[in-house]
Amino acid sequence: MAQVSLKGVSKIYKGGIKAVDNVTLGVENREFLVLVGPSGCGKSTTLRMIAGLEDVSEGKIWIEDRIVNDVPAKDRNIAMVFQNYALYPHMTVFENMAFGLKLRHYPKEEVIRRVHEAAEVLGIKKMLDRRPRQLSGGERQRVAVGRAIVRKPLVFLFDEPLSNLDAKMRVSMRAEIHKLRLRLQTTFIYVTHDQTEAMTLGDRIAVMKDGQIQQCADPIDVYDKPANKFVAGFIGSPPINFLNGRIIQKERKYYFDEGGFQVKIGEEMHSSVAPYLGKEVSFGIRAEDIYDKLFTSLASPENTVRATCEVVEPMGSEVYVHLNTGKHTFVARVGAHDRPEVNRDMDLVFDMSKVHFFDKDTEKTII
Ligand SMILES: Nc1ncnc2c1ncn2[C@@H]1O[C@H](COP(=O)(O)OP(=O)(O)O)[C@@H](O)[C@H]1O
Ligand SMILES: [Mg+2]
Repeated sequence: MAQVSLKGVSKIYKGGIKAVDNVTLGVENREFLVLVGPSGCGKSTTLRMIAGLEDVSEGKIWIEDRIVNDVPAKDRNIAMVFQNYALYPHMTVFENMAFGLKLRHYPKEEVIRRVHEAAEVLGIKKMLDRRPRQLSGGERQRVAVGRAIVRKPLVFLFDEPLSNLDAKMRVSMRAEIHKLRLRLQTTFIYVTHDQTEAMTLGDRIAVMKDGQIQQCADPIDVYDKPANKFVAGFIGSPPINFLNGRIIQKERKYYFDEGGFQVKIGEEMHSSVAPYLGKEVSFGIRAEDIYDKLFTSLASPENTVRATCEVVEPMGSEVYVHLNTGKHTFVARVGAHDRPEVNRDMDLVFDMSKVHFFDKDTEKTII
């Protein structure tokens, strides 16, 4: 049995807001599962129900083989790290980390041992006598994590632990969390709205929207095989390009017709797109699957699109080019030294083996 399981779990707040809608999810022992989605989609509510900080309206939650719906938070053997990791300002780092253990009446030597162990893991041993205001944001975050570690819980729940840190600190703390996870060998459920954090940290990621899990899979699977248009658009930076158009057929070959251009759909996709012949669909292509014709050998008349270059954004290691077909705008990621001229037309080559099609009405992935 999974270490943490949710079956048909919903949360309806007073006033009738359905914050979590029929979520079923299993988190394996030692797995790092990331719940990711836009603000308000129900991530924190889900986590808080697992922690026992919020009642479950419908469904059941198991921790190991025990149903915990009615088990108080303190008896769930879970530790949570919050976004606003309010440390006690009048206590030292040591006291902050020891506090939870003292409340639970651990023997003094055990408290000292565990706090030192956690401080060692987190690299904050020299700071044990300081107070929170004498620490940087990143160091405070470590102390908050330390408070959770000393408990040696079965499961760690993290709710956007890095979102109060500046961009650079977030990247380094992300790597720290990765290392921590390898050392602790415990189960993590980690909530974030940041798709990069989700992709880089998760063994699996569960993408949420409107209280529902849209897809739960390995990060690369979610990236390569999004279940629907929402997931495709949420995961990936810059976001995937969507272009509306129609599936048409010429001499038994299928094409995507954008109105201004037509590109040939690979044979391997024929059986999937055939039911959509003549219908409107949404076409998705990621920026890295679009090439400047001058720098690729993939070009053919049936995968090349003419568009006007509107903006060129050099990123250092690559360049984002914003293009306009007359009907749609899209972004291509080209090589670091490619500098297309603004307001000029250029030819873009689509890697048609990487594209996606989505149903216009249901937004489900066609292929
Ligand atoms: N205590 C509450 N009472 C009523 N509605 C709430 C409460 N907490 C959260 N909500 C609502 O539930 C939805 C999900 O919130 P939340 O789980 O905090 O989302 P997230 O963590 O993904 O940003 C939101 O619409 C939010 O306004
Ligand atoms: Mg939240």
